[in-house]
Amino acid sequence: MAGPARLCVTNQKGGVGKTTVAINVAGALNELGRDVLFVDLDPQGNATEGLGRLEAYDDEPPTLLDALVDPDGVAAEELVYSHPEMDVITSNIDMNAAASTLAQQSAPETHLAELLDRLESEYEFVVVDCPPHLGVLTDNALYATENLVIPALTEPTSKRSLELLFDYVGSLEMEHGLEIEPVALVANRIETTSEDEAMLEWFDDALPDVPSYRVRKRVALQRAFTEGRSVFGVDEEIDMADRFMDVAKRIDEQLATTGVPA
Ligand SMILES: Nc1ncnc2c1ncn2[C@@H]1O[C@H](COP(=O)(O)OP(=O)(O)OP(=O)(O)O)[C@@H](O)[C@H]1O
Ligand SMILES: [Mg+2]
Repeated sequence: MAGPARLCVTNQKGGVGKTTVAINVAGALNELGRDVLFVDLDPQGNATEGLGRLEAYDDEPPTLLDALVDPDGVAAEELVYSHPEMDVITSNIDMNAAASTLAQQSAPETHLAELLDRLESEYEFVVVDCPPHLGVLTDNALYATENLVIPALTEPTSKRSLELLFDYVGSLEMEHGLEIEPVALVANRIETTSEDEAMLEWFDDALPDVPSYRVRKRVALQRAFTEGRSVFGVDEEIDMADRFMDVAKRIDEQLATTGVPA
């Protein structure tokens, strides 16, 4: 049987909406009836908070770091918190030591893949939220998922951050013989200025093969975060829910049948 389809949400630029996109795309996949495992790989633990489990940030071991260090010794299932919309592997304060700890191990970028390969629960999707920097944790996410959702702001510095990201992904592919697929670009926090429009055009020109989605600036997204839910798990109607649903449908169509060979 094929394992779950996996994707990560990455951009090394900070504050562009990785966590917001990861939580809401995962919520949309759940809304489509899919079983989702969410992994908060960011030592900041923002998704852990945005999925209502901030207290897990200070949990005693075993933590996600222990499982990454020793995928044989700690099963992913031991770490799972059951959120109403999805299962969640929370981040933890220990994850701040992940870079230095994993660097001492062999093939440090392969540990998340190993952990997910050993999952016994039958998820259909694994969604990984990444930290705002390139390094061993993001490598783990890219290596384990080979599918990439990229959130980006419509501002001039996004050009360079996307170029850097694609260069980085290209070298990781070369080094490990991977084929990492950008499955969606989410232009996030859009307003209605002509600068925004110009950047949206640049995205489409620069990445003609990657479907792009437009999420407008909405304080309601922050309210859902505070409630510990995706926009699909709160009572308030939020118009941008449709956009996240479009992303999820596209991912579902593209990845659900392929998955990861067992
Ligand atoms: N479309 C939006 N409308 C309004 N606020 C948004 C939107 N997207 C994200 N935000 C807010 O912007 C801030 C940064 O978003 P988020 O945490 O998702 O970014 P991030 O890329 O995960 O950040 P980091 O790089 O620190 O991990 C948060 O306060 C979030 O609630
Ligand atoms: Mg984040």
